[in-house]
Amino acid sequence: MTLAPETAGATGTAPAASLAATLPGAFYTDPGTFRQEQRHIFESLWCCAVRAADLPRPGAFRTVQVGRESVLVVRDRRGGFGAYLNVCRHRGARLCTEESGEVRRNLQCPYHAWTYDLDGRLVAAPNLQRMPDVDRAERGLLPVRLREWLGYVWVCLADEPPSFEETVIGAVSERLGGTEAIGRYGIDGLELGRRVTYDVRANWKLIVENFMECYHCATIHPELTDVLPEFTDGFAAQYYVGHGAAFADEAEGFTVDGSGGFARIAGIEESQDRRYYAVTVRPQVFLNLVPDHVIVHRMFPLAADRTVVECDWLYAPEVIASGADLSRSVELFHRVNTQDFAACERTQPAMDSRAYRAGGVLVPSEHHIAGFHRWVIRLLPGGPEAPGSPEAPGSPEAPGSPEARGVPEVPGAPAGPPAARPRDGGTSASP
Ligand code: FES
Ligand SMILES: [Fe+2]
Repeated sequence: MTLAPETAGATGTAPAASLAATLPGAFYTDPGTFRQEQRHIFESLWCCAVRAADLPRPGAFRTVQVGRESVLVVRDRRGGFGAYLNVCRHRGARLCTEESGEVRRNLQCPYHAWTYDLDGRLVAAPNLQRMPDVDRAERGLLPVRLREWLGYVWVCLADEPPSFEETVIGAVSERLGGTEAIGRYGIDGLELGRRVTYDVRANWKLIVENFMECYHCATIHPELTDVLPEFTDGFAAQYYVGHGAAFADEAEGFTVDGSGGFARIAGIEESQDRRYYAVTVRPQVFLNLVPDHVIVHRMFPLAADRTVVECDWLYAPEVIASGADLSRSVELFHRVNTQDFAACERTQPAMDSRAYRAGGVLVPSEHHIAGFHRWVIRLLPGGPEAPGSPEAPGSPEAPGSPEARGVPEVPGAPAGPPAARPRDGGTSASP
């Protein structure tokens, strides 16, 4: 699949200036394209895998799908983490078949009982004593690079991962106007209030695109636009660096009925109070920041038309300890998720329609999505941005011109706040 979005257009003529082309429909259905995305995007970039607190004790593990691989993340005896390909080095059985669990001492393969310690080393196997020439270190589990940030374990399957600072932390600070802004929420000190896992029958890119635009907000998000009235104009407030959507005057909190939430997170600034910020960290994380909680989406694409989204609602420890009723707080974004994912699922079947063979169009308030499309295409084979190339994400050359960074010309876009500037299409977001 090499067709660039600029070449799309149902009639073969250039779209009107107000309209930009989307990707052709096959990008969302073709198994070959999906495999390329798994390999060149999800197995090449940093992905947010597991919430660290989900693995509280040595031996606690979680498995997640990253690209084509099952990755095993386990808490080690020193309190840190190991991440490994979830494949036994003997004859390849999947080592941990459960999505999560806890082992007492070691990880044992259920096939022939090869046994690995929590650092991945092969420590025992039937008759191993009679094979003195076997190098146990060499036969250990294959490690995967990991980083801890925001209370999550992030993994990268690439032999030479891109810079975490530039591609992950950089994406967040580009959106928020600096790294301090995210730090004030103290996300790694928050606790899990609720987790909902959504099995979405849609391509992962439809979910990203949906999160990046707010043209749909007035139509499908009545509860959200009640709390964030500026979302009704269709322009994502997140289009501007550092700008958060202001709560409605009558909204007491970020809740499904606008009723009061909880005390604001201790570290945030006055300017962050009563505002909603959304950040996309490509390829698979959405961060949503409000004064009294943080919502983290992690996407795990399983097929061209299927994506599992794990969504965590995080609160200050004292809120969790108080036993407070979180339901109205959780319900707002759960409803947004449900509305968004239903829209994505409604769109997915049409990706196979001859009506969408050449794709659809983006209106001006969606033009920045074309930057995301260019980013995807550049990472696929033949594109100039395969990780490790001079133009790879995070390289000094990557920011480049506004056009290279995916900043679109947006006819009719409203003027931003003072000193605001339009942002890269890849990290702007709205629900
Ligand atoms: S495949 Fe794991 S012990 Fe044989
Ligand atoms: Fe939405």
